[in-house]
Amino acid sequence: MYYIGVDLGTSAVKLLLMDGAGKIVNVVSKEYPLYFPNPGWSEQHPEDWYDRSVEGIKELVAGVDASEVAGISFGGQMHGLVILDENDEVIRPAILWNDGRTIEENDYLNNVIGKDKLSEYTANISFTGFTASKILWVKNKEPENFARIKKIMLPKDYLAYRLTGVHCTDYSDASGTLLLDVKNKRWSKEMIEICGISEEMLPKLYESFEKVGTLKGDVAKELGLSDKVIVAAGAGDNAAAAVGTGTVGNGSCNISLGTSGTIFISNDTFGVDEHNALHSFDHADGHYHLMGCMLSAASCNKWWMDEIIGTKDYAAEQKNIDKLGENSVYFLPYLMGERSPHNDSLVRGGFFGLSLDTTRADMTLAVLEGVAFAIRDSFEAAKSLGIKIERTKICGGGAKSPLWKKIIANVLNIKVDVIAAEEGPALGGAMLAAVANGEYASVKAAADAIVKVVDTVEPDEELVKKYDERYAHFVKLYPAVKGLYR
Ligand code: XUL
Repeated sequence: MYYIGVDLGTSAVKLLLMDGAGKIVNVVSKEYPLYFPNPGWSEQHPEDWYDRSVEGIKELVAGVDASEVAGISFGGQMHGLVILDENDEVIRPAILWNDGRTIEENDYLNNVIGKDKLSEYTANISFTGFTASKILWVKNKEPENFARIKKIMLPKDYLAYRLTGVHCTDYSDASGTLLLDVKNKRWSKEMIEICGISEEMLPKLYESFEKVGTLKGDVAKELGLSDKVIVAAGAGDNAAAAVGTGTVGNGSCNISLGTSGTIFISNDTFGVDEHNALHSFDHADGHYHLMGCMLSAASCNKWWMDEIIGTKDYAAEQKNIDKLGENSVYFLPYLMGERSPHNDSLVRGGFFGLSLDTTRADMTLAVLEGVAFAIRDSFEAAKSLGIKIERTKICGGGAKSPLWKKIIANVLNIKVDVIAAEEGPALGGAMLAAVANGEYASVKAAADAIVKVVDTVEPDEELVKKYDERYAHFVKLYPAVKGLYR
């Protein structure tokens, strides 16, 4: 049997075909536009997600016996607000996870409703990227659109809805709405009231590895697949990536260097960061996790390479960088503001410590280091909770760079386990579909059978010391500059 994993990302949808034993048979990627209609805003058209996914699935299965395809599931960009009217039409473009427009609504939630109350209702506080503040923004700024809302969903749930007709979501992705009581796995009545919506507008909740339905007849025909193909709820992309890297069970860690950068710590039991630097969310394996999220990670390097230097050959730019821990240039990676731990949509990025002898290589290195230091901010928040992390998996576009993996290992002073397949969320999605179809007894069983570590990057004592000193300087930069952007 074959399983399709759909990674609904910010720059593209990545589709992966896996056989029942976990072998990756084919991978296809389809890009779509990202719109910035105002500074700090970030939007996409849900119809683009669906159209490109349909195109991609057809291409993905072209070389195999389509009657052998048994299931589809997802890892989706989190937090995005998708709203449909009574005719199931999309009311306005989706407002994405890295959109910073809801500063007023976010302040209202954190300071008028209050962080304590939010934490009591949901286990989290509000961030501009989270869905609740976006619902309030539509209510305040676009009342005519708000009045038309019949269904609210997250990005990957729009795909599931179009494929099956079932209005569903899963606990991991629902955690990022700030509408879910994460500990008890149910919608929070208090948050529903605060946002002025009704529970009927919200999707039905499932475990990520549960079947929500099968392909609608017309959709199956269009895709060339059977209408018996099951669709499993899937997960937010970070939880799906954690499944795809085997980050399940107690105390495992995954770092994702994608458009965003995350550090994800899986837990069998529920826990909250009382300082609210880390999110406390449900996991796709049926348990829980803590996560720190920076808004621009591999996207900083992409911006620096594509837009500023003007090259597509990232590896060539990194090839001659061998002297680590001595760079006098620092980079703040806040190109879209920052989430963890600063919760500051207004701050922006910058280079510091430039001099006439600064080279292009110093600046390239500073970008990679700046992202690693910002990941360390969340790592330090986890350590302050008494969590001990000695090793991590790594995935996302940035994980292709040997240099970046070495920097992460030394800035965080942990072992970085490299796995055979870096396709985190897409592989995780396919694995969730396989579990839903009974191919594996649990998500953990699927991860144990499928995920293989092929290499480990070890930290070096001398380098760790040098990076400790540089990190001590890095942490002074945000407090020094944040006032510039008020
Ligand atoms: C996580 C987050 C991002 C997006 C990226 O909280 O906002 O990692 O999920 O797709």
